[in-house]
Amino acid sequence: MSGDARKTAEGLSYLSGFGNEHCSEAVPGALPEGRNSPQRAPLGLYAEQLSGSAFTEPRAHNRRSWLYRVRPSAQHPAFTRTGNGALRTAPFTETVPDPNRLRWNPLPEPASGTDFLAGLWTLGGNGDATQRAGMAVHLYHANASMDRIFSDADGELLIVPERGGLLLRTEFGLLHVEPGHIALIPRGVRFRVELLDDSARGYVCENYGAPFRLPDLGPIGANGLANARDFKAPVAAYEDTEGPVEVVNKFCGNLWTATYDHSPLDVVAWHGNHVPYVYDLRRFNVIGTISYDHPDPSIFTVLTSPSDTPGLAGVDFVVFAPRWLVGEDTFRPPYFHRNVMSEYMGLVEGAYDAKAEGFVPGGGSLHNMMSAHGPDRETFDRASAAELKPQKIDDGLAFMFETRWPVTLTPQAAGAEHLQRRYDDVWDGLERHFRPLR
Ligand SMILES: [Fe+2]
Repeated sequence: MSGDARKTAEGLSYLSGFGNEHCSEAVPGALPEGRNSPQRAPLGLYAEQLSGSAFTEPRAHNRRSWLYRVRPSAQHPAFTRTGNGALRTAPFTETVPDPNRLRWNPLPEPASGTDFLAGLWTLGGNGDATQRAGMAVHLYHANASMDRIFSDADGELLIVPERGGLLLRTEFGLLHVEPGHIALIPRGVRFRVELLDDSARGYVCENYGAPFRLPDLGPIGANGLANARDFKAPVAAYEDTEGPVEVVNKFCGNLWTATYDHSPLDVVAWHGNHVPYVYDLRRFNVIGTISYDHPDPSIFTVLTSPSDTPGLAGVDFVVFAPRWLVGEDTFRPPYFHRNVMSEYMGLVEGAYDAKAEGFVPGGGSLHNMMSAHGPDRETFDRASAAELKPQKIDDGLAFMFETRWPVTLTPQAAGAEHLQRRYDDVWDGLERHFRPLR
C-alpha cells in the first residue's frame, strides 16, 4: 500500500460506456488515424491486435482491440511451469458434486507477503476451461502488492472486492476499484494488482465462456439495470521500463512464468472494445414490484455470459443493491425456492434480507442445482408478520454468481476449516402452520 498509489487511484480519468469502441492515447499522435496497422505505426510503436472473439463472430459480439506498444508482445522468452498455489481450474473432478446447501466463513489470514495472485483460492466451478465453457468461483485474500504481472488465457476475471481498495495497472491503463465496485479484466489482458490498504479481500468469477455483456432489457425499455455509461474503461497509461519483470500466464489451468527484460504494460495508445472496466454497483438501477409479489432475481442481473441457448446463461452476475420494498400482501424477502441454476452468493457489506445471521461479508453460500433454500426461520417469522409499509433495504450489498451447471467444489473448499458444518440448521424449527378448514 502507499499514499502515492491511493492519490494516483483517486485522480484517475476514465472513458464511459460498455461494449462500444473506445480509443485513448497517452502521448499525442500515438494512435494512427484511418489505419489499424499502418506501414509504420506512429512514434516508432508496434501495432498489435488482441482478439477477444473469433474474427468472424457477429459484429454485435465481436471483440478486439488494437494496441500500439513500445515492444510487441511476441518479444518474450519461453514460459515455464510454476506452482498453481490454491488456484484450480475446470474441469473440477476431485470431489463428487454436492447437493447440500453449503456456507463458508471468510478466508483465513494469509501469510505476510501474499499478493493478489498468490492469494487466489478456488472454491469450485464447472465446465471446462479448454472448451471455453463454464466458470470458477475464487476468493482472494492478499496483503502485498504484486510486483509481477498476470494474465489469464482461460477466461475473463470479474473481481468483486469486499475489503480493501485495489489499483489495477493494466495494458490499457489504470483502474481503481473499491468494495462496492467491480472490475472486469478481459481474457488475456495483462495486469498488476496494487493494494491501497493493508490487506485486500474479495471474490472473483473466472468466466471461461462468452464474455460478459449487459443483459437485454425487453419490455423494461431502453434504460435501467446497469446503465452502459456507468462502466468506466481506463485511459491509456504505459510503463517504459527496462529490467527483469516476472510475467505469469494462466493457461489451461496451470500457471506459467517468464522473466521479461521490460514491462509488458507498455501500451502507449489503443482503440477497441476488448477492454477492462470498473463499475460502481450502487449505480445499478434497481427495478422491482410496485404492486405485489416480486420479480425473479434475474431482474437484478448486472452482466450476463450467454450460452448457445437463448436466455440460459453460462453465468450471470447479479447484485442485491439497496432498494425500496413496497409490495402489498407480499412476502418480501426472497421466497423459498429450488432452481435448476446453481447459485453462489457473496456479501460485500452489511446483511442480506433472507438471512438473520451466519452469512457474513467475505463469506459465501452455495445452493447447487435444485437444492431447496430460502429464508431462515427468524426471517420467515418476521417477514410473515411485518407491517407492509414502504421499507428501504439499505444495509447490505450481496451478489450472486448464478450458473447453468452445478458448482463442483475443490477439495480445499470441501474440507475447509471455514466451511460451516451446521448450515442446514438455519431451516430448523420452521413450524408447521397448516390447519385444514373443517
Ligand atoms: Fe436462491
